[in-house]
Amino acid sequence: MALKALILGIETSCDDTGAGVVLNGRSILSNVVSSQDSFHRRYGGVVPEIASRRHLEIVNPVIDEALAKAGVSLDELDGIAVSHGPGLVGSLLVGVSTAKALSFATDVPLLAVNHLEAHIYANFLTGAVLAFPLLCLVVSGGHTSLIYMWDHGEIQVLGRTRDDAAGEVFDKIARALDLGFPGGPVIDQLARQGDAGAFSFPRALLGDENNFDFSFSGVKTAVLNAIRRETEKGCRVNVSDVAAAFQEAVVDVLVEKSVLAARKVEVRQFLLAGGVAANSDLRNRLRRSLEPEGIELVLPPAELCTDNGAMIAAAGYHNLLRGKRASWDLNALPNLGFEKNI
Ligand code: KG4
Ligand code: ZN
Repeated sequence: MALKALILGIETSCDDTGAGVVLNGRSILSNVVSSQDSFHRRYGGVVPEIASRRHLEIVNPVIDEALAKAGVSLDELDGIAVSHGPGLVGSLLVGVSTAKALSFATDVPLLAVNHLEAHIYANFLTGAVLAFPLLCLVVSGGHTSLIYMWDHGEIQVLGRTRDDAAGEVFDKIARALDLGFPGGPVIDQLARQGDAGAFSFPRALLGDENNFDFSFSGVKTAVLNAIRRETEKGCRVNVSDVAAAFQEAVVDVLVEKSVLAARKVEVRQFLLAGGVAANSDLRNRLRRSLEPEGIELVLPPAELCTDNGAMIAAAGYHNLLRGKRASWDLNALPNLGFEKNI
C-alpha cells in the first residue's frame, strides 16, 4: 500500500449527506456535509423516504465537491469507505450503491465502515495523540454506549442504553416543546438561560458501580408529563427551565457512568463521540469530572461529532491497513451494532 493513503468517506446513514477525503486516517483534506434538516423540520423528525430521495439527488455533487476541495481525483484514491450500518435502510443503500459503483469503475478498494465505529474515529481527526487502551462514550441519535477499545478493531461494549438513546430523547422533548428538529442544539442553547432546579427529573440506573447501562425512557416520560401538567393547568411552560432540568438529568447520568467506567478500566484517555457529544454542558462537565482523575478528555469539534464523511474515511483507513476490503455483495445493515463489525 502507498505510504500516503488517501481515503474518500461517504456517509448517508440518516439525514446528512456527507463526503470527505482524509489522509492517513488523521488529516482532513475536505469534509462536505449537506444537511437535510430543512426538509424534515416540519415533520419533527427524519422522514425516511424523504431522506433517501434527497441522498440520491445530492450524493454525487457532494462527492464531487469533496474531491475538488481536496484537490484529489478518483483514481488517486487508495480506498472508498462507506457507512453501511446502522441507520435507515433506504438512506444507507444510496451510499453503499454509490461507493460500490465508484469502486467498481476505478478499481479502488471498497471499505465497509460501521457508522458507530466511525463516530469514535472522529477523535483520530483532532490531532490528539491517542494511546490505547481508550474508553469512549458514543452518544448519537440512535445509540448510547460505553466502549472500551484496546486496539483498532478491538473493543468491548461495557454498557448500552436499554431503551431510548440520549439524542433520540433530546429530539422527542424538543418536539413536545415545539422547538423543531434536531432537538439537541436548541435545547443546549435554551438550557443556558434556564433554571435546572425548577423541575426534578429522574436519573435512572445510578447507584450500581458495576452497571454501565443507560435508560432514558423514564426521564423522557417524566418531562413529557411535566409539560402536559403545566399545559393542563393553563400555565405557559417555561421552555428554558424544562430544557435545563432535562439536560442536567441526562448529563448527570452520562457523566457519572463515564467516570465510574473510566476508574474501573483504568484508561488515561477518554473519547467522546456522536451527535450529542456536541452538547456544551456534557463537554464541560465531563472534562471537569475526568481531569481530577488524571484522565484526558479528547473531544472532536462539534462539526465532527455529528454525521460526516471524514469520520467514515478515518475508520476506513484502518480497515485498509488490516486488509479488510469489502466485496461486491456489501449490503446495507440497518441494525448493525458495535459487536458485529469492529
Ligand atoms: O451522531 P448523529 O449526528 O446521528 C446519529 O448517528 O444518530 O446524532 C444526531 C443527534 C440528534 O439526536 C441531535 O439532536 C443530537 O445528536 N445533537 C445534540 C446536539 N447536537 C446534536 N444533542 C445535544 N446537544 C447538542 N448540542
Ligand atoms: Zn451518527
